[in-house]
Amino acid sequence: MAEFILAFDQGTTSSRALLVDQKGTIAAVAQKEFKQIYPQQGWVEHDPMEIWSSQLSCAQEVMATVAAGDKVVAIGITNQRETAIVWDRQTGKPIYNAIVWQDRRTAGICDRMKDQNLEATIRESSGLVVDAYFSGTKVQWILDNVDDAREKAAAGDLVFGTVDSWLLWQLTEGRVHATDVSNACRTMLFNIKDMAWDDQLLDILKVPKSMLPEVKSNSETYGFSKLFGYEIPIAGMAGDQHAALFGQMCTEKGMVKNTYGTGCFLMMNTGPKPILSQNKLLTTIAWQRGDEVNYALEGSIFMGGAIVQWLRDELGLIKSSSEVETLAEQVTDNGGVYLVPAFVGLGAPHWDQYARGTILGMTRGSNKAHIARAALESIAYQTKDVVAAMEADAGMKLRQLRVDGGASINNNLMQFQSDILKTDVIRPQVLETTAIGAAYFAGLAIGFWKSVAEIKELWQEDRQFSPDMSDDARNHYLQKWSQAVSCAKGWAKT
Ligand code: G3P
Repeated sequence: MAEFILAFDQGTTSSRALLVDQKGTIAAVAQKEFKQIYPQQGWVEHDPMEIWSSQLSCAQEVMATVAAGDKVVAIGITNQRETAIVWDRQTGKPIYNAIVWQDRRTAGICDRMKDQNLEATIRESSGLVVDAYFSGTKVQWILDNVDDAREKAAAGDLVFGTVDSWLLWQLTEGRVHATDVSNACRTMLFNIKDMAWDDQLLDILKVPKSMLPEVKSNSETYGFSKLFGYEIPIAGMAGDQHAALFGQMCTEKGMVKNTYGTGCFLMMNTGPKPILSQNKLLTTIAWQRGDEVNYALEGSIFMGGAIVQWLRDELGLIKSSSEVETLAEQVTDNGGVYLVPAFVGLGAPHWDQYARGTILGMTRGSNKAHIARAALESIAYQTKDVVAAMEADAGMKLRQLRVDGGASINNNLMQFQSDILKTDVIRPQVLETTAIGAAYFAGLAIGFWKSVAEIKELWQEDRQFSPDMSDDARNHYLQKWSQAVSCAKGWAKT
């Protein structure tokens, strides 16, 4: 009889469900893209019901592959973080669409907080910079803009949750309203030292405490689901980047991973104490297991693999994402073209809510291959900017970068990444590190795996990329990139 963990990987553009066996192998996978809603410039929403229905149908699809006699022993959830959903406690119905992490509508609220000199207070308690990225200002916006929402919230009739909470609520049919520390610490409402909702932050953001989910560790039984024919414990929950850090087994201080998903998210495990960044990185909780808390430094890059989607869907330069590598290879270099993908502003380490996308350096001879190449290269340059900040914060050079996520299968991009960083880039055999991380958290909670040491044995390297570029060439690329970034900054500020 085989046993599996069912992992939910609810991302920004698609919902996925995976079955993971005891060897850490993916036994089945199902994926569904869902609608991206752009009601206004800079706004990004999802329909929470579609998040759930797409996730449920993926789960049903993989559950159908479980042979008679075999069993799913636990569910692990990992999710796009910061995306905010407010729903009615009684009916379970959302009162507004999910406001997605990429949404910029609350930039003005953030500016006002900066004007009130609240940046240091917010950073001290939450570890975050003041930016529209995080959930707190999104909840505030919903309460202030949806009819009767403030009154209902004051009466205790509304609840808030990030996507993990929303899925847990659905899986338990409204019985459990909880979140985990990794998702909680991205709301700007959570104190990462006290490990509790922070009254001062709640006050600043005008969010009533009664709306908030109970905060749990990343690896414990939160509740049970009866939706799949028998009772299954939901035993692991983590924001996707935290799950990926764990899935990559970056369990020791100083280990760093980069996930090339919709955005790119670098995380460095900094051990049991939070390090407040001096270089505009985020201080975040990596995970909590039992009483043990691990912290991390994070550099969040808003546009990573999504740039390839943009080339495909908005520019029509390619028909499928996988064509980008071939197109970019049609030219031997970028021909002096630089693309700064600040489509939703710039995240770490620039934090410019008003930066916008720009292409520079085009000549009469520039063609679509140069643009594709510049788009891919921008992923590597943005990563370099974050690594430089991380090295400065940590006071040490990066020894190697573990990579995962969709775009990490692109060999040329990974080689360029290694060249630009002047560091080894290591790609594991299993690239589904996010889902695997969620499965590991769930499996450890129920004894499916006995220890982290046992899981470490499952991590296998696929390929190592080593730097092979002259210092002159690297310096030239980075200097032009930095010039291009300066041009993109502040563009949308009227
Ligand atoms: O912080 C946003 C992040 O969690 C989104 O991840 O994988 O959907 O790009 P992804």
